[in-house]
Amino acid sequence: MIPAIGHYIVNSGGKRLRPLLCLLIARYFGYQGDRHIPMSVVVEFIHTASLLHDDVVDSSYQRRGAPSANGVWGNQASVLVGDYLFSRSFQMMVSDGDMEMLRLMSDVTNALAEGEVLQLSRTFHLEMSEAECLEVIERKTAVLFSAAAEVGSHVSGQPANVVAKMAEYGMCLGVAFQLMDDALDYLADEETAGKPVGHDLEEGKITLPLIHAMHSDEALRKRVHSIAERDAYEEGDREWVRERVEAQGGAEYAMKRAIDYAERAKKALPDFGDVDIRNLLARLADFSAKRPY
Ligand code: IPE
Ligand code: IPE
Ligand code: MG
Ligand code: MG
Repeated sequence: MIPAIGHYIVNSGGKRLRPLLCLLIARYFGYQGDRHIPMSVVVEFIHTASLLHDDVVDSSYQRRGAPSANGVWGNQASVLVGDYLFSRSFQMMVSDGDMEMLRLMSDVTNALAEGEVLQLSRTFHLEMSEAECLEVIERKTAVLFSAAAEVGSHVSGQPANVVAKMAEYGMCLGVAFQLMDDALDYLADEETAGKPVGHDLEEGKITLPLIHAMHSDEALRKRVHSIAERDAYEEGDREWVRERVEAQGGAEYAMKRAIDYAERAKKALPDFGDVDIRNLLARLADFSAKRPY
C-alpha cells in the first residue's frame, strides 16, 4: 500500500515549489556537492505527508486534479502512509548526519502540527483577527517554505546571517503563497485549482478574504453565523457567500497582502550570488502571490 499510494501521489504531480526552492538556492550560492538533492526530497516528503493528513482533516476528496488518496484508499491508509512519509524523511536526515538539519526539520514538523491544531481550535471563530489568521498561516505553511530556503543556503555553507535572510525570504514567500491559496478558495474554479473551492468556510475556516468582507457586510456576518450554528452549508450558501465576499473585495484584499509579502521576500534576497537564479527566485515570490492555481 505504501508504494501504491506513494506512486499515486508522486505521479499526480503538484507544483514541487518547496524542493525547487531548496535546489535553486543551493545553486544560487554555487554549491558543488549533492546533499541538497536528498534534502529537497525530505522537504517534499514532509509536504506530501502533510497533504495526506490535511485531506483527511479537511474531508477533502480532490487533490492535484484527481481523487485524493483518502478518496481512493480511505482515511486510515492516508493517515498511516502520511506517518510513514514523515518518519521516512527523518531516516533520510539521519543518513545525511547533520544535527542542524534534524533540529530545523523537527522544529518545522512541530510548528506544522501546531498550526493545524491552532486552525482547528479556531473553527467557525467569527472574531478571528488578521493577526491570528497570519499566525496560523506562518505555522501551517510558511515555516516549511522557510526551511526549504534555509536548507539550500545551509548546505552551501553560508554564514548564519545569510541563512537567516534566506529563511526570511522563504517565510514571506510562504505567507504570500497561503494568502493566495485562501484567495483562490473564493476566486478559482475547481478545474484550475485541482481541488475543491468554496470549501474553507464549509469546513469552518475563517480566512482573510472572509474576515475582510465581514468587516463591512453585516448581512454576510449573519449568514456566516447561521452556517456556523448549523455547522453545514445549506442549498445556495456557497454561491451567496462567494458573491458577497467578491462584492466586498475580500479576495482582492488577501491578494494585496500576498503581494506585500512577496515584496518583502524579494527584499530579503542578498545582492550577491548568481544573478540569473536571483531573478528566478524573485519571480517565484511573485508567482506565489499571483498564481492562478
Ligand atoms: C498545498 O500546497 C497546500 C498549501 C500550503 C496551500 P501546494 O499548492 O504547493 O500543493 P502541490 O504540491 O502543488 O499540489
Ligand atoms: C495546507 O492547508 C497546509 C497544510 C497542508 C499543512 P489547506 O487545507 O489550507 O490547503 P489545501 O487548500 O487543502 O491545499
Ligand atoms: Mg485542505
Ligand atoms: Mg487544511
